[in-house]
Amino acid sequence: MPTLFQHIKCLVGTHNPATIKAPLRSAALASLPCIENAWLLLEGNSIAGFGPMSSMPSGIPQSQCINAAGRFILPAWCDSHTHLVFAEPRETEFIDKIRGLSYAEIAARGGGILSSARKLNALGEDALYQLAAERLSKAALMGTGAMEIKSGYGLTVEGELKMLRVIRRLQKNSPVSIKSTFLGAHAIPAEYRDQREDYIRLIEESMLPQIAAENLADYIDVFCETGFFTPEETVRICAAGKRYGLKPKIHANQLQVSGGVQAGIQSGAVSVDHLESMDEAAISALANSATIGTLLPTAAFFLRMPFQPARLLIDNGCAIALATDFNPGSSPSFNMNLVIAMACIQMRMLPEEAINAATINGAFAMELQHELGSIGIGKMANIFLTKPIPSLAYLPYSFGEQLVEQVWLRGKCISEPSGAIK
Ligand code: NIG
Ligand code: FE
Repeated sequence: MPTLFQHIKCLVGTHNPATIKAPLRSAALASLPCIENAWLLLEGNSIAGFGPMSSMPSGIPQSQCINAAGRFILPAWCDSHTHLVFAEPRETEFIDKIRGLSYAEIAARGGGILSSARKLNALGEDALYQLAAERLSKAALMGTGAMEIKSGYGLTVEGELKMLRVIRRLQKNSPVSIKSTFLGAHAIPAEYRDQREDYIRLIEESMLPQIAAENLADYIDVFCETGFFTPEETVRICAAGKRYGLKPKIHANQLQVSGGVQAGIQSGAVSVDHLESMDEAAISALANSATIGTLLPTAAFFLRMPFQPARLLIDNGCAIALATDFNPGSSPSFNMNLVIAMACIQMRMLPEEAINAATINGAFAMELQHELGSIGIGKMANIFLTKPIPSLAYLPYSFGEQLVEQVWLRGKCISEPSGAIK
């Protein structure tokens, strides 16, 4: 059954597919095509047409028409970096951080990722699935229509497979489009502390072959950081992943200038993510590569780190995306609306730049740009309607206000009845 949205105050992100063959960068990142006073037609699970009201098609029964006066319609957010699957939140560490401990100090004493791994290995797959499915539904109601989800809290063969199987079940059951990333190299588990070579071989020789045999992942990730994995280990683990058809997406330059950006680019990474700590060499390497820099402002915020130098990256010609990094340790929020607000407020991105980085460039960072991330004929009907707002800039400006009124994924409304337009 078709659905026709009429009188849309502004239809946002109507990029011409012929002109976006690659992620937007430099001045082009600020170019966000919009149609004022527009219509949008969804048919089945895709976008069937759109345009100004003067060109609206006739013949759609009134019962299938929605009056979107006063509302903006955007492509659903593309959250290209999350750790959605975990057993328990870590708010006790949150208190430790308030009292002065750093993320690295908590990790060094067995907290952090290792504590999440202990909890995850003790929980059954079904319980883990239920928790993740609930979080995913909540994220979708906030406008997220595509999500990359990582493993990395198992750090054992069984634990990593369990996480990836949970992601597979989410992929089958959720209307959110999902990409899956194997992050066995998230931390060296306690029992391998003095045998890191053995753990890397476990990844290469046991985890990867089983993941490939069950076709459980699209990407491979490594946390390239002092105290975690070195740039050399990162390149080696990425090479192993690539032998099994997994492209790299790397955690790079979060806590320090780690060499992760260059290691990722050298490995042909689709994206290098975090980038709180960037020097000139890392910026120029990124600018001269096809790799996307994925910025995670809520992680910087939560860990009281300097925000990613978005302006410097954009002005030097790097392609950037924005994502939540949703995880229990450094970014316990799956709210993409907050991400774009922080990008504008703290990183001086223009609203148009932030929205492009959170939609079409996020889609590129998951290699879903042909299906998602913009309003285009034949693309997946993943969109959201705002509440009545005066302008697009109001979305990041009125930070913290819940301005998403209705979310449509694969052509169907997923919002609660209370979100219905009267
Ligand atoms: O992206 N930095 C590494 N991984 C996550 C945090 C994981 C955790 O603390 O549980 C991140 O910030
Ligand atoms: Fe992360």
